[in-house]
Amino acid sequence: MDAGRPIIQVNDLHHRYLRGTPLEVVALKGVTMEIYEGEMVGIIGRSGAGKSTLVQHFNGLIRPRERGKVIVDGEDLADPDIDIRALRQKVGLVFQYPEQQLFERFVGDDIAFGPLKMGLPMEEVRERVREAMEMVGLDFGRFKDRYTFTLSGGEMRRAAIAGVLALRPKILILDESTSGVDPRSRKDLLGRIDALHRERGLTVIFVSSSMEDVAELVDRVYVIDDGRTVMSGTTREVFSRPEELIRYGLGVPQVTEIVHELARRGKIPFTTVVNVQEGKEVVWKILNSSAT
Ligand SMILES: Nc1ncnc2c1ncn2[C@@H]1O[C@H](COP(=O)(O)OP(=O)(O)O)[C@@H](O)[C@H]1O
Ligand SMILES: [Mg+2]
Repeated sequence: MDAGRPIIQVNDLHHRYLRGTPLEVVALKGVTMEIYEGEMVGIIGRSGAGKSTLVQHFNGLIRPRERGKVIVDGEDLADPDIDIRALRQKVGLVFQYPEQQLFERFVGDDIAFGPLKMGLPMEEVRERVREAMEMVGLDFGRFKDRYTFTLSGGEMRRAAIAGVLALRPKILILDESTSGVDPRSRKDLLGRIDALHRERGLTVIFVSSSMEDVAELVDRVYVIDDGRTVMSGTTREVFSRPEELIRYGLGVPQVTEIVHELARRGKIPFTTVVNVQEGKEVVWKILNSSAT
């Protein structure tokens, strides 16, 4: 991990939709954050907080035009001369609704779309499609010739992620891309993303409304509310402040809540667990000490 230079730097970012019209919406009014290479960072915040608007800046879908700066891998995104195609290749964004991202008739063609547009030779395109499909757990032989519209919700999300991975991005952004997937499939997908992060040093930005998934997956969290950064820290630090999170329309994972409640009732000193394993250990400790 390069702790020296953030790969993404956001400073006091502002954004308005439909600027200068009666329908103007102020979506961002001061977001600041730094994401380092090889990190796994979570972005949480209630619906409408500005998360999607924020992450769309990272691959140039929205350009900073007002107050604030976005620097990605050393490039200022306000610069009109930046190479947007190169940026989209470097920063892969998977949308909230995968059906917004899949538009080819066959799954394989859809995943091949990006690499083909990069002008890569057919052999390499095929190799990348195969690799990306295996990474997300879609069997190449079984799925490449499937009609896109016959995929299940979970398979569609996998295909959308594969289409982005086929570009071999340095940064992968998942904007609520795992919500609405059945629990087992979601767990499998999150495990695969974690593996990509660990084995390939992929920087992952995980936008999610599941506090459980965030706690399980990421090391650091930013909380966005009403267009501003309102909290940040390690996952444990952020989830050790439940009152604040509730104020921002959020909460903590259920297991975190249970252990906090045990502390409130004086059973244990205040402690913050971020996964079920840690929760189990706390409960065992209490049971063992009350047995003696
Ligand atoms: N294309 C758009 N046009 C106008 N307003 C928008 C558009 N997209 C989002 N907004 C508004 O901007 C605010 C932030 O939205 P969004 O970034 O989607 O939040 P989140 O992803 O956290 O739910 C909301 O008030 C939303 O209604
Ligand atoms: Mg959103």
